[in-house]
Amino acid sequence: MTLPTLLRRIDEVRAACDDARRAGGTIGLVPTMGFFHEGHRSLMRAARAANELVVVSLFVNPTQFGPSEDLAAYPRDLDRDTQAAGDEGVDVLFAPSVDEMYPEPGVTTVHVSGLTDGLCGARRPGHFDGVTTVVAKLFSIVGPCRAYFGRKDAQQLAVITRMARDLDLPVEVVGCPLVREPDGVAMSSRNAYLTDEERAAATVLSRALASAADEISAGEREAAAILGGVRARIADEPLVELDYAELVDAATLAPIERIDADALLALAAFVGRARLLDNCSVTVSGDHVTIDQGVVAFAP
Ligand code: PAJ
Repeated sequence: MTLPTLLRRIDEVRAACDDARRAGGTIGLVPTMGFFHEGHRSLMRAARAANELVVVSLFVNPTQFGPSEDLAAYPRDLDRDTQAAGDEGVDVLFAPSVDEMYPEPGVTTVHVSGLTDGLCGARRPGHFDGVTTVVAKLFSIVGPCRAYFGRKDAQQLAVITRMARDLDLPVEVVGCPLVREPDGVAMSSRNAYLTDEERAAATVLSRALASAADEISAGEREAAAILGGVRARIADEPLVELDYAELVDAATLAPIERIDADALLALAAFVGRARLLDNCSVTVSGDHVTIDQGVVAFAP
């Protein structure tokens, strides 16, 4: 196993990417905040399979955290992450300091409207502006590339896809499957915050989505009925406090009353100190629906 080259400076990353393109190669970029799990690693593998140079960025971006959120506590382990990136054949690990990314307070923000109004956008003011601004910076630093994002953060993926399209950024945004633990819990760096008891309770989120998926497969189309079931199941678990459960149009992310086009069933919940996300997507063709609940990571 070869460890990735650890780069701290923007100009070094630009130079490495320019060299790779000049040699005729394509670049796969995986933006992350580190503390890698199988979800991150699946993105690195997708990037590795399709590109000559794989760049993973690791930056806990302060501008996407609210004042009372977990920026200081966010889990970090650069040595372990470097090993994991090496195991996945990553060429460059770009881990800039906050000063390197924000040498002075920025006065320029990339804001995607509409798609950021609901779901997490409504509960975390400014969050998506922080995400789109840092991702636009990463796209500018790396240049023409494919960039890989997980469907675990479905709203983030939709927002970044739209940003790249609206700004003609030379980046192909690639969405990848949501990866789950063997017991169904969506993988997240924030699962590290959970006690054993909370971790067991967190399974209610994917179980509630799986029950909803069963109901939809059996013909239920009404949002009120589907969401009522999800909310009731989660309310039964005292260690989990639902933030939202919503059924939205897959393209606009606006709430829907009935499933008659592609839809996203998305939720967020507080479990102990963690705020966890989960979702499944519903694809409609005629009378038939297909429900994508992601994939289960194989046990190592
Ligand atoms: P982070 O939470 O570290 O996630 C990095 C990438 O991994 C995102 O594309 C996210 O959707 C994906 N990911 C996380 N958990 C996943 C899972 N269980 N299955 C599949 N993919 C998963 O998302 C961010 O960082 C930041 O907002 C970032 C885009 C890097 C901007 O700062």
